Amino acid sequence: MERFRPLNIMRILSGIQPSGLLHIGNYFGMMRPAIALQAQGEALYFIADYHALTSLHDPDALRENTRRVALDFLACGLDPERAALFRQSDVPQVAELAWILSTVTPMGLLERAHSYKDKIARGLASSAGLFSYPVLMAADILIYDSDVVPVGRDQKQHLEVTRDIAVKMNEIFGNVFKLPEPRIHADAATVPGLDGQKMSKSYGNTIDIFAEEKEMRKRVMNIVTDSTPVEAAKDPDASVIFQLFSLVASPHEAAEMRSAFQKGGRGYGDFKQQLFAKLWEYFEPMRKRRREILTQPDYLDDVLAAGAARANMVADEVMRRVRSAVGVR
Ligand code: TRP
Repeated sequence: MERFRPLNIMRILSGIQPSGLLHIGNYFGMMRPAIALQAQGEALYFIADYHALTSLHDPDALRENTRRVALDFLACGLDPERAALFRQSDVPQVAELAWILSTVTPMGLLERAHSYKDKIARGLASSAGLFSYPVLMAADILIYDSDVVPVGRDQKQHLEVTRDIAVKMNEIFGNVFKLPEPRIHADAATVPGLDGQKMSKSYGNTIDIFAEEKEMRKRVMNIVTDSTPVEAAKDPDASVIFQLFSLVASPHEAAEMRSAFQKGGRGYGDFKQQLFAKLWEYFEPMRKRRREILTQPDYLDDVLAAGAARANMVADEVMRRVRSAVGVR
């Protein structure tokens, strides 16, 4: 193991796709766990713009979304003194590594990936890039000798693929990579959307973190409910309203809503109002921080430049090891 850095500082890595506005599923699935971990080791967090190219071919929109996600991540509490924040494409060596990894990746491993099948089923154009999305993700993780990768539950299979690829590389070329561990946030990993399916931009069922007040209220009021009458008892565990409320309320408040559901006498509209008020309050400090950042014109670019410099330092070192192990250069 002397090929790896001799430190015992944990390296934490995660990425987020810049696919439009951030919603509370992104927040609880990936961002909040990632932000909580930033104090526990060296964190490297990036905006996955190369990955976004598998579904977005609009250069202005890609650039704009990438910056906005970086801004929103900072607003949500990412501390650039502790965590490096950068664009995936600021470390283009990752595409070189993806190529090298693809030469040892069995086709069958990628053919089994749900996310490819899901995306095709939803009508995304199939492309070699979409198919090999998990290989680029493996490169993202392995190029930084990452120890821990905080992600939502939907990314679990991608991390298994990453480990399989790393094992294969190690078998063929000697001890090239360390095996990363997934860190899946147990209770908040899957956040339900308005219709009860997983909250996802592609299902159109999201509540955006930085939506205007009117818009956020409207989204909450659009949560799908059953036709249980006002006076009847309701099942909190079957309700998106209660599940979302539990994410943002204190345990005491959640317990109160639970018993109000079970007692009957209050309608879903009423619970939705209560959910909206809590959501709005929960994200107020983030909106405030976002407004502050926007008053400093160079802040975002400075943070991204410093993050890119740090990420490149780590990636260059690992790539020297990889190139020498496989015999290029
Ligand atoms: N596939 C992830 C998602 O859609 C984003 C991502 C790309 C990622 N590369 C990564 C996450 C590396 C963790 C580690 O959410």
